[in-house]
Amino acid sequence: MAGIDYSQKIPNNVDLKSDKRLQRALERWQPDYLDWWRDMGPTDFNENDVYLRTAVSVDRDGWANFDYVKMPDYRWGIFLTPTEPGGKIGFGDHQGEDVWDQVPGEYRNWLRRLIVTQADTEPASVEQQRLLGLTAPSMYDLRNLFQVNVEEGRHLWAMVYLLHSYFGKDGREEASELLERRSGNADHPRILSTFNEPCHDWLSFFCFTMFTDRDGKFQLLSLAESGFEPLARTTQFMLTEEAHHMFVGQTGIARIIRRTCEVLKENPDADLHAEGVIPLETIQRYINYWAASSLDLFGAEISSNSANFFGAGIKGRAYEQKNYDEHSALDQGYSLDRWVEGEVKPDEVPLRNAMNEVLRDAYVKDNLKGIAYWNKETAKAGVDFQFTYPHRRFNRTVGEWSGGCFHLHTGEVMSKDAYEAACQDWLPGQAEADYVRSLMKPCTEPGKFANWIAPPLRGINSQAVDFEYVKL
Ligand SMILES: [Fe+2]
Ligand SMILES: [Fe+2]
Repeated sequence: MAGIDYSQKIPNNVDLKSDKRLQRALERWQPDYLDWWRDMGPTDFNENDVYLRTAVSVDRDGWANFDYVKMPDYRWGIFLTPTEPGGKIGFGDHQGEDVWDQVPGEYRNWLRRLIVTQADTEPASVEQQRLLGLTAPSMYDLRNLFQVNVEEGRHLWAMVYLLHSYFGKDGREEASELLERRSGNADHPRILSTFNEPCHDWLSFFCFTMFTDRDGKFQLLSLAESGFEPLARTTQFMLTEEAHHMFVGQTGIARIIRRTCEVLKENPDADLHAEGVIPLETIQRYINYWAASSLDLFGAEISSNSANFFGAGIKGRAYEQKNYDEHSALDQGYSLDRWVEGEVKPDEVPLRNAMNEVLRDAYVKDNLKGIAYWNKETAKAGVDFQFTYPHRRFNRTVGEWSGGCFHLHTGEVMSKDAYEAACQDWLPGQAEADYVRSLMKPCTEPGKFANWIAPPLRGINSQAVDFEYVKL
């Protein structure tokens, strides 16, 4: 087992105590982080014991320990997967050269920007979710929310470690600013738009962990290939934790569908609002909204930055080594559609310039598995309803398609009037959002579930579904 030193203020497997300067810098940042957690982390539950997993090793088996802990006492630590000696850069212009254990001067600004952008999403999502504990549909869900929150906090630690260790004074400044920006604050917002959207209700939370955390997964996968080895090793371990966040989203939505289908099976004409469950059409509209918003996070379809990052060997493709035979991405084209003077036209661009789109392709494919999973729920219940994933041009605010009017399913150009009329049916309306919010009442007796969501098939870490996940 790659040893983790828990005797230190900051648990770590990077031998922090041998670098006094760095240790002091991080120990100075730690109280600011805790202040941020108390101000902007989950409200009201900081004195409760929560059954949480804490990373205790980076081994594939047995990397986590489950126990009761108060969230502010969570052992946020710094864990990197072990170095493999003789590592080589796997793609781009430096392919085959030794990996970097220090930041190469010529790529310093790009790397800092990549790390800060990733880092900023971590506290942002905690801020977005801070009120949800007050309306949890069950103790099981409450615990999962807090697990996601503390791990996003740890991901911030992971990125701040890199900033403090490798970027000197400006890294330390960036680390401070990460605790100063606020999700949704007009004067001092988080960097990416989706991370400024409010997350008022649990349907939004499950969509967020399904679609937005999955963007996180693909960004981490591409950074896990980086020639800057500390970044690759950090993000590799973050991916282990990230999987649970998407599990929460995918199964959360599935359980809402299951509950609605139960009611529909009894009576296909039931008044679902009167029954206090969420109509499948409403779930679809929330999916449309969050799926489209999360697609924006990959950036512009054609991007010189993405070409630069790939060429430099600092950000690869997802599973670069496993899924591709050719790693220069030179002298190759990528076919995509463009929006030219109101028309969709096919085009081809150099592959390196399309790396955002390549990553988005892999992301969409992964999402489709989730959609298929949800459709199994309706099929099992014998309810005739198919969930769909929106066309990637739909409702975009970043890149080629931003601001355009495109059909939800076909991506065809629509007139503004027809589009706006159709969006009444494609996106959640105010009355619908109000209805969903009206259902959000806490239900936290062990083993009890709010009426609008089915219990999970099993509990956490082999515990029973009615286990006391949070001591209230
Ligand atoms: Fe994260
Ligand atoms: Fe996450």
